[in-house]
Order: sequence, then structure tokens, then C-alpha cells
Amino acid sequence: DMAEKGGYPDFMLKEIHEQPRVVRDTLVGRMTPAGELDIDELGLSLEELNDIDRVYVIACGTSYHAGLIAKNLIEGWARIPTEVEAASEFRYRNPIITPTTLVVAVSQSGETADTLAAIRDARIKGAKVFGITNVVGSPVARESDGVIYTKANKEIAVASTKSFIGQVVSLTLLALLLAQVKYRLTTKQARMLFRELSDTAEQIQWILDTQTEAVHEAALLCKDAQSALFVGRGMGAAISYEGALKLKEVSYLHAEAYAAGEMKHGPIALIDPGFPVIAVATKSATYDKTVSNLMECKARGAKVIVVATEGDEEINKIADCIIRVPAVRDVFSPITASVPLQLLAREVAILRGCDVDQPRNLAKSVTVE
Ligand code: G6P
Repeated sequence: DMAEKGGYPDFMLKEIHEQPRVVRDTLVGRMTPAGELDIDELGLSLEELNDIDRVYVIACGTSYHAGLIAKNLIEGWARIPTEVEAASEFRYRNPIITPTTLVVAVSQSGETADTLAAIRDARIKGAKVFGITNVVGSPVARESDGVIYTKANKEIAVASTKSFIGQVVSLTLLALLLAQVKYRLTTKQARMLFRELSDTAEQIQWILDTQTEAVHEAALLCKDAQSALFVGRGMGAAISYEGALKLKEVSYLHAEAYAAGEMKHGPIALIDPGFPVIAVATKSATYDKTVSNLMECKARGAKVIVVATEGDEEINKIADCIIRVPAVRDVFSPITASVPLQLLAREVAILRGCDVDQPRNLAKSVTVE
């Protein structure tokens, strides 16, 4: 058992530590020497790609959160309207689908019942369907027009970590490709972004090597709480949703995530002395706004845990605990800033005596409705 876990105490930690490799493997061979993105498996001609005028990302659970990140990337770079929807919702309504609609189905296992049903429905209605999955030859792979494999290798812990990172990297490639075919990115820009995307492998490694103690301190602030609130803006909000899910899944501590700007409209009522607020406040255009939200939490006695950019000293004034991540362009922050939240969820779970690999009531894949 210990050998299977590669010397780690559990699969979750082993898989978190595999993430630098997942980033590298997912990117291998993806950029030609001429600076063109290479995703041949897409199964669509450049003309068909250029015609795409609407994207739906459909998925469940953690994969849905990868979709939230993809929306920001596809709309930001390629300027194609993009919706993200739980497959269990998408399949039961009547979404607007035309032959120029691209449905991107994201599924680690490639066999989630709702996601498969949504794919089938979308194809009948004439959409092009593209799968992002971790399992070669899985139903999602077989039933899509094209597929990107996330190269995470087998994921054993029920709560998804490394395949999430593989999904985010794959969706980033897809967004870059769409931007390139829509002439919204030059070859030079694409090359630079691709290089920065590749650099996240080492940046994750840095977090794994240096932030263990900070994560432990943060976990101590959470472990006896009744509930925790995750907040952030933009990419930070998307990262927060996944952080809250991870904490719930493995530690059974109630958590919810909110866009920081929405706090005043409800969640701030929850805060009393000692209440843990976990913020993703990496450097971005909305950094100052998030900091002022955190001051409001602090004033009400919250324990403020912040995922912050290395070198940001301003945050020291309000944070009770800081977990550092390297400075990256905001679009790549989910790849780095998600890692401390995975580690935090696991650490809280361990402190609460939970089985992090096999949480109660959860299944690795949900193949029945
Ligand atoms: C289950 C798993 C989650 C996963 C979700 C979607 O709930 O426990 O970790 O995110 O299914 O699974 P999929 O294989 O479609 O990504």
C-alpha cells in the first residue's frame, strides 16, 4: 500500500504532488516551432473553428469548476460567448444550440451519467462536441467529435486534484487555440502565453516545497469551526468555489464560496469572532477590492486566511495566516492558487481524523443519475 502511494501517507497528497508533472505532460508537443497551437484531435477544421459563435462548457463537480475558469479564458481571449452549466441542468432544459455551437464536455472519468446524456442530447441538436477527459477510450472520449486527454494518469483519491489541474491546463490550450483561429492573438503572444503556462509546473513545485507550514497553520484556524467562507473575485472566485468543495468533500466541514463583492448581500451576516474566511487575493486588477472586503471581515472578528502573491507585504496587515503563491499572470492563477486550497482541505481533514482518500457518501464517478 505504502509503495503504491509512492511514500506518501495517502493518495490525495501523492496526487497533489504529481501536479507539476501533469502540467508538463499535458503540454508536451502542443506548440509547434512556428508558434501554432497543435490540437489535431479537435476533429474540426480551422474554418469550422472560426465559425464557432457560442460555447457551452458542461460538467459536474470539480470538472464544473474547471469550466468556470474556461469561461473567463475563452471569453477573455477568443471573445466567444461562453456559458458553464452543470450537466444535470443542461440536459433537462432547452439550450440554444446551432451547428456553430461548441459543447465542451469536461469529465475526469469520462463516464458521468449526466455529462454523457448532455453530450448525446447536444449532438442530436447539431452541436459540435469536444471532450476533455482523463480516461482513454472512455464514453466521453468515444462520443465526442474530438478529445483532449488530461494526462493526469489514474486518479485514486475520490476528491479530484491532479485531474482538475490537467483540465484547467487543457481548457487553457483550447482557449488559446480559439483565440488564435479568431485572429485575436498573434503567434508571438501565443508563444509567450504558452511559455508562461508551462512555467506553472515549477511554480506549483515551489508551493509544494515551501508552503507546508503555512498550510498547517491555516488548517489549525479552521479545524474546529462550524463553517468556513471562501471568497475571491474573477479567477479568485472560481478558485474559491473549488476550494470550498474540496474542504466539504474531505473534511465534512461546511463551506461555501462567494464572489467577494457579493459578501455584503448575505454571507457577511455569518461572520462572528473566530469565523474562518479563506480568501484568494492574488495580485490582479481587483486585488484592492478584495482586500477591502477582507477588512470588513476582519472588523467583525473573522480569522482571515489569504492565498497571496509572493512579495505582497500589504496583505500582512490584515491576514491572520498567509499562504504564498508565485506571481503569475491572473489568467494562470487558477493553476497555482488552487494548490494551497487542495493542501488546506486535506490538512483540515487529517486534523479532524477523516479518511481523505475515501470520504463518506462520495463516489469517484457517478454513473447513475
Ligand atoms: C464525482 C467525484 C468528483 C468529480 C465529479 C465529476 O462527484 O467525486 O470528484 O468531480 O464526480 O466527475 P467527472 O469524472 O465527470 O469529472
